[in-house]
Amino acid sequence: MVEATKNLETTINRRRFLYFTGWGFIGMFLITLLGGVVRFFFPRTIIEPPTRYKIGYPSQYTQGVSERFKKLFRIWIVREANSLYVIEAKCTHLGCTPNWLASEGKFKCPCHGSGFTPDGINIEGPAPRPMERFKVALDTDGQIIVDAGIRFRGERGEWDKPGAFLKV
Ligand code: FES
Repeated sequence: MVEATKNLETTINRRRFLYFTGWGFIGMFLITLLGGVVRFFFPRTIIEPPTRYKIGYPSQYTQGVSERFKKLFRIWIVREANSLYVIEAKCTHLGCTPNWLASEGKFKCPCHGSGFTPDGINIEGPAPRPMERFKVALDTDGQIIVDAGIRFRGERGEWDKPGAFLKV
């Protein structure tokens, strides 16, 4: 009698275990399914920085290469005697971010060694062409506004076009 009762208890415990495990799996499946449905309404998007942005007043830049916005917008602002322009900090070989070596007066790419003059012309390494420049203009408040959606390429003779530089 005692043995039969124990067997019955064991059977009931096993059934309970299987019952809860089964519902557990069904619950997890439904939660996963629900997660997928919710995810469907929130598609993956890449948050990119704006393509138009202000970088301050021309008077804030002294002659030479400024790295003020390199981290934020991946650009250098270069001021020459009578002009100012913006270079995209992107190597034209495979797209790494070069470093400005002030002591050597050139940009140097850490990936494969390409070198560029302060105005962005490729002078060494595998980079096939100069770095690109972004459109610059003066906004109504006098600040420089950069439009990264419009590029100027030196090898195409575009650096003299309106918008490729500002007269300062
Ligand atoms: S990515 Fe700059 S040299 Fe290769």
